Amino acid sequence: MFDMKPMSLVLRLMILFFSLKLAAITTGSDHFVFSGFSNSDINLDGAATVLPNGLLYLTNGTAMIRGHAFYPTPLRFREFSNSTVHSFSVSFVFGILPPYPSHGIAFFVAPSKNFSSAVAVQYMGLLNKQSNGNVTNHIFAVELDPVQNSEFHDINDNHVGIDINSLQSMQSYSAGFYDGKNGNFENLSLISGAAMQVWVDYNAKTSEINVTMAPLHVEKPVRPLLSATYNLSTLITELAYVGFSSSTGKIKSQNYVLGWSFGMNSPAPAIDVTKLPRLPHVSTKDRSKILEISVPMAIAMVLIATGTTIFLLVQRHLRYAELREDWEFEYGPHRFLYKDLFDATQGFRDKHLVGSGGFGTVYKGVLRVSKLEIAVKRVLHSSQQGMKEFIMEIVSLGRLQHRNLVQLLGYCRRKGELFLVYDYMPNGSLDKYLYSQENNLYLGWAQRFHIIKGIASALLYLHEEWEKVVIHRDIKPSNVLLDNEMNARLGDFGLARLHDHNIEPQSTQVVGTIGYLAPELASISKATPHTDVFSFGIFILEVTCGKKPIIESNQENQLMLVDWVLEHWHKGSLTDTVDTRLEDEEQFENLQTKCLKSLSSKLEEASVLEYSDPSF
Ligand SMILES: *[C@@H]1O[C@H](CO)[C@@H](O)[C@H](O)[C@H]1NC(C)=O
Ligand SMILES: *[C@@H]1O[C@H](CO)[C@@H](O)[C@H](O)[C@H]1NC(C)=O
Ligand SMILES: *[C@@H]1O[C@H](CO)[C@@H](O)[C@H](O)[C@H]1NC(C)=O
Ligand SMILES: *[C@@H]1O[C@H](CO)[C@@H](O)[C@H](O)[C@H]1NC(C)=O
Ligand SMILES: *[C@@H]1O[C@H](CO)[C@@H](O)[C@H](O)[C@H]1NC(C)=O
Ligand SMILES: *[C@@H]1O[C@H](CO)[C@@H](O)[C@H](O)[C@H]1NC(C)=O
Ligand SMILES: *[C@@H]1O[C@H](CO)[C@@H](O)[C@H](O)[C@H]1NC(C)=O
Ligand SMILES: *[C@@H]1O[C@H](CO)[C@@H](O)[C@H](O)[C@H]1NC(C)=O
Repeated sequence: MFDMKPMSLVLRLMILFFSLKLAAITTGSDHFVFSGFSNSDINLDGAATVLPNGLLYLTNGTAMIRGHAFYPTPLRFREFSNSTVHSFSVSFVFGILPPYPSHGIAFFVAPSKNFSSAVAVQYMGLLNKQSNGNVTNHIFAVELDPVQNSEFHDINDNHVGIDINSLQSMQSYSAGFYDGKNGNFENLSLISGAAMQVWVDYNAKTSEINVTMAPLHVEKPVRPLLSATYNLSTLITELAYVGFSSSTGKIKSQNYVLGWSFGMNSPAPAIDVTKLPRLPHVSTKDRSKILEISVPMAIAMVLIATGTTIFLLVQRHLRYAELREDWEFEYGPHRFLYKDLFDATQGFRDKHLVGSGGFGTVYKGVLRVSKLEIAVKRVLHSSQQGMKEFIMEIVSLGRLQHRNLVQLLGYCRRKGELFLVYDYMPNGSLDKYLYSQENNLYLGWAQRFHIIKGIASALLYLHEEWEKVVIHRDIKPSNVLLDNEMNARLGDFGLARLHDHNIEPQSTQVVGTIGYLAPELASISKATPHTDVFSFGIFILEVTCGKKPIIESNQENQLMLVDWVLEHWHKGSLTDTVDTRLEDEEQFENLQTKCLKSLSSKLEEASVLEYSDPSF
């Protein structure tokens, strides 16, 4: 009993010593430096944790989550609510592990620690669809974003941006740095798995914001990566929290912060890079290697045991056997294990079959670990020829991201079979709604118009907004899927071919669906963005008229929907072509009158032109 007191004193001293030595050495309320986060009093939220070695792990390796870390107390960014914001400077060291593209990391200054309404995935756990861009957010952030999101007009899938209240950056640039010796720009890959340092400096006198980055152990470059002018006195609140936010998407990814320092009205204290925790070792081939090594080993062991188990194991091996060639390793994250797809669909059982078409059958599945709902398209193919090129395209298409496209998640191959994995769309395809006689599947004009606009937006993205021109080649209602909010999403890129901008598409076999093919395809047999637009035109008519592109009649003279509509137009009875189920909708009638008015004024203009311009 007598020993207890000195013991506890020693313990307390030890704790004090360790917390001084290892934890944040806070030099006054507005300077701090963390070289690793062991024993720090940093606040964590969501999936964020501090690992035993001191790494701040913002995303715990789970899909679709958010993680936040805050300096525990708010910092005083201005003396009075009416004075200007202080100059400040921040530095931090981060690492994002390959191979999975994550939704990145953001350093932020925000008025509160409450991010409960923020959304993961592209909103980085900072904002949501409603709050994005709202001036009442008072959020300043620097994003490190390895995903190109068209919604925010991201420049590429490896950029750094300055964000004011919105994830649409006010300024952004490819990740990299200007070499101090020769001034050349050197690219850096955010998801290389290497630790990198970032500096953010704000000068209140000039309202200048500089963001600089460099690999760890490289001195801070003189020339910043980004330099913007924005008066943060109009943004940051008197007291504000500083911290990091991160989120993952469909695929789990690993985002870490290794060290962090902050200085108000002074440079950020230097982070002691020699004391930083180490990032986990990266190996992109882990999963596949485990499978390849463990299956033969298991077989060898079982050989010694009993023959029956050999039989069972070999059967299992055959059941899950995949085709995998060397060149496929670089597509790591996009390659699914056959076993995972097999499990997800309970062995491609018929009860999971959700559709079948010219290109194969589609199964619904749920991935076991992430619980993500997927649609697996099983395509039968006989030849290996062109497979490499095809997979290259598939992987490239997987990088397309748009709210009106069905997201392609990846693929898997077996002998004679190819599997394409997509996001699952619970409400099925549009044709079901257009031609069903069931009343609960009826779509009003507002919904139909929303769908048409969605597909128009998807096409614009494919044709003009992405880095390559993507021609879809098969736009039709059965390729338009509806998500759980009844937004239209264009699917089935199985037919698409990529073309570099400004390069004449090579002539290839005509593909598509009769009734949607542009007439010029018959003569030049070359798909172009124009031929997609033609199919889209037929699609609009189909959605508005509720009729198939080829109106069935006797075999000799098939009546085409376009001709039928045109005929009615000439006769002045265009409104007779509208889907009869829409007729009693007030909204539609209003629109119809508006359209007819503008159409007749256009026609008048045109007839004036016709007389004045002989070449018309
Ligand atoms: C990750 O964090 C989420 C949210 O806090 C939690 O629900 C989940 O269990 C965590 N996963 C792991 C593997 O720790
Ligand atoms: C700013 O507010 C402080 C205290 O609220 C007050 O003393 C000061 O006069 C104000 N300054 C200006 C320029 O309004
Ligand atoms: C956080 O904000 C939400 C609304 O965005 C609110 O409902 C909730 O009560 C807040 N939580 C705390 C702890 O303040
Ligand atoms: C911005 O947010 C405030 C507070 O949440 C809200 O009252 C306002 O309507 C929002 N403004 C816009 C344009 O959404
Ligand atoms: C750096 O990356 C960008 C975007 O990926 C690319 O356009 C540029 O050519 C690269 N520069 C160098 C020097 O590699
Ligand atoms: C930003 O960078 C420029 C160019 O190196 C430099 O002149 C300026 O002082 C920097 N501003 C801040 C706030 O660091
Ligand atoms: C920034 O805005 C504040 C008022 O919001 C103003 O007092 C200050 O002079 C501005 N700073 C600069 C550098 O323009
Ligand atoms: C679309 O899906 C959502 C969610 O699965 C469901 O609540 C809704 O009823 C569906 N709508 C139609 C028209 O099937």
